[in-house]
Amino acid sequence: MHIPVLKDEVIEGLNPKGSENFVDGTFHMGGHSELILKRTKGKVLGIEIDEDVFKEAKKKFEKNERVISVNYSYVNIDKIVKDYNFKDVDGILLDVGMSSWHIDESKRGFSYLKDEPLNMLFRKEGTTAEEIVNTYSKDELERIFKEYGEEKKARKIAEAILKARKEKPIKTTFELINVVKKAVLAKSFDPIQRIFQAIRIEANKELENIREVLPKALDVLKGGGRLAVISFHSGEDRIVKEFIKNNKEKLEIVNKKPITPKREEIAENPRSRSAKLRVVIKK
Ligand SMILES: C[S@@+](CC[C@H](N)C(=O)[O-])C[C@H]1O[C@@H](n2cnc3c(N)ncnc32)[C@H](O)[C@@H]1O
Repeated sequence: MHIPVLKDEVIEGLNPKGSENFVDGTFHMGGHSELILKRTKGKVLGIEIDEDVFKEAKKKFEKNERVISVNYSYVNIDKIVKDYNFKDVDGILLDVGMSSWHIDESKRGFSYLKDEPLNMLFRKEGTTAEEIVNTYSKDELERIFKEYGEEKKARKIAEAILKARKEKPIKTTFELINVVKKAVLAKSFDPIQRIFQAIRIEANKELENIREVLPKALDVLKGGGRLAVISFHSGEDRIVKEFIKNNKEKLEIVNKKPITPKREEIAENPRSRSAKLRVVIKK
């Protein structure tokens, strides 16, 4: 079960009302969308990249005429809106990254607590985690560990991976964990979590996707429309912040500082702890 993060804050930020229409660019099973639908008589266009998640979502909303669901990447938001003739977009939500389902159910190696094949892809195509770990150069690995994982011992870990894979390809999460653990003499899961995050971001091109979608989202929104972005990683939030700064003349900033979850939400849903929400209105 994926618990939507910053529920009240997202609804307050998007302010759905009347017969307004929304695009949920990271639909998942429609957790946030259901809350939006309760406040508006309009429609939601839900975009979900993961085929398995999408199938479930499609089933769930089959009978709801106010929901259009599309199995695609949000980077194509402009094309999707056009193809579905989805006019007057009053708000867009992006709640980026993976869901709890990916960690708990997908069996694709997103969790460092389970021994699974190193896949980490949201969709079938793309470079898998296994390919990244076994084919990237030392410098490339070091860069992604530093940039996407903010791992201080990036070089040491990259070297250990190269050494290990010379003997035998690294194919599962536990094999990768053993290499990382030994390289940094890890006493906690923190470095492992950082390395997993970095590989997942690289595999799914997550930062590139955010960079690509933001200007398109702004184009798609109607004047007075709202854009809400939830990120979980400082690299993601930096891109959103920069985008807002570079488009100041086109946007009204709703919250200068990112909105973060209250203590009670973090206690109830620890996954929410790194969530940051930024909301802007198109002028
Ligand atoms: C954090 S979850 C969203 C949860 C949802 N807001 C809710 O509360 O129910 C992110 C979802 O976005 C999907 N996703 C990731 N990258 C995507 C992309 N480029 N295009 C569309 N969906 C994407 C993931 O598969 C995942 O289901």
